[in-house]
Amino acid sequence: MSKKVAGFEIGSHALHVAVVTKKGVKKVLTETLPEGAVREGRIVSYEALADFIKQTCKKKKVRFDEAAVVLPAALCFCRRMQSPIMTHEQLMVNLPYEFRDFITAEKDQYFYDYAVLGVTKDEETGEPTELDLMAAASLKSTVQDYKDMFRRAGIKLKTAIPIEMSYTNILSKAPADHAHCLIDLGHTAVRLYMYHGNRYENSHLVEYGMSTLDDIIADAMHIDPFVAASYREANHDGCQSLPECVEVYQNLANEIQRAVYFFRYNNPDVELEHIHLSGGGARIQPLRDVLSEAISIPIEDCSELIGAHDDGIETALGAVGAAMQ
Ligand SMILES: Nc1ncnc2c1ncn2[C@@H]1O[C@H](COP(=O)(O)OP(=O)(O)OP(=O)(O)O)[C@@H](O)[C@H]1O
Ligand SMILES: [Mg+2]
Repeated sequence: MSKKVAGFEIGSHALHVAVVTKKGVKKVLTETLPEGAVREGRIVSYEALADFIKQTCKKKKVRFDEAAVVLPAALCFCRRMQSPIMTHEQLMVNLPYEFRDFITAEKDQYFYDYAVLGVTKDEETGEPTELDLMAAASLKSTVQDYKDMFRRAGIKLKTAIPIEMSYTNILSKAPADHAHCLIDLGHTAVRLYMYHGNRYENSHLVEYGMSTLDDIIADAMHIDPFVAASYREANHDGCQSLPECVEVYQNLANEIQRAVYFFRYNNPDVELEHIHLSGGGARIQPLRDVLSEAISIPIEDCSELIGAHDDGIETALGAVGAAMQ
């Protein structure tokens, strides 16, 4: 029997889990987190979350041989970069300087890693001149906290990867000459990730997500924001189509359009083939409709990328990619 790998991603609203084997996706699930478990992208109590992960795995009969987790974007940085040809040792000395604009703590408090995506060669001599790299920096204490949390849940983590790497895995079978835009319609933010083939190019963050709709629905329908959240998910009284909500979708579409133009401007030779939606917001049909209308690039389900059509796959896409590591 082929090895079962579980991927986990902890969002601000839900825990996403996927079990994958060489043959494909075996299971995907999204469980809403207890209220207040994650605040501003940070886990409030690692112990409480460990217990929640353990219970969820037990309740949903999640069985696996190995586990991988997606590190939180707020605490893990990823970037494409070019560097002169150098050895592994030289790169490890240089990477901290490449991240100096991103990291906030002392540079030795981070783990650094990289993957070589390509080597540029001199056209005449054929001599290598430059390395094309995808590099990552993550806080050592975060990685340790995650390892400890999963250990408490009875799970030994094999890998912890940034979301950009998880999507690289998702796109592993994408044609190398096609560009893709993955859009995560999350609870607290909307995040765009641009890829050329499976190579990460850049990302763009919109600092509000589906939770902004709650205050709007609450105001329009004169209800409590907490109640509004359940109205929104159930599309109670068609609240997802309130004009005030549609305005939010339109603003989002504008932001996305701008990021897409920017990518096209910087990559004039690359055709952006598809936009793939993920995250719980991908289930809001009126939002999908506004995006389809406003953006000239066709929207395709993420499930097409991995050839799996399990219900809920787009909500747990990050976890699926982690399990493919
Ligand atoms: N069927 C649905 N209809 C409407 N909204 C939904 C539906 N399913 C999920 N959502 C909403 O989509 C939002 C994003 O859900 P998701 O599970 O992607 O959150 P998350 O990954 O925890 O968030 P983040 O990535 O921002 O940390 C949530 O606000 C959730 O309530
Ligand atoms: Mg998420």
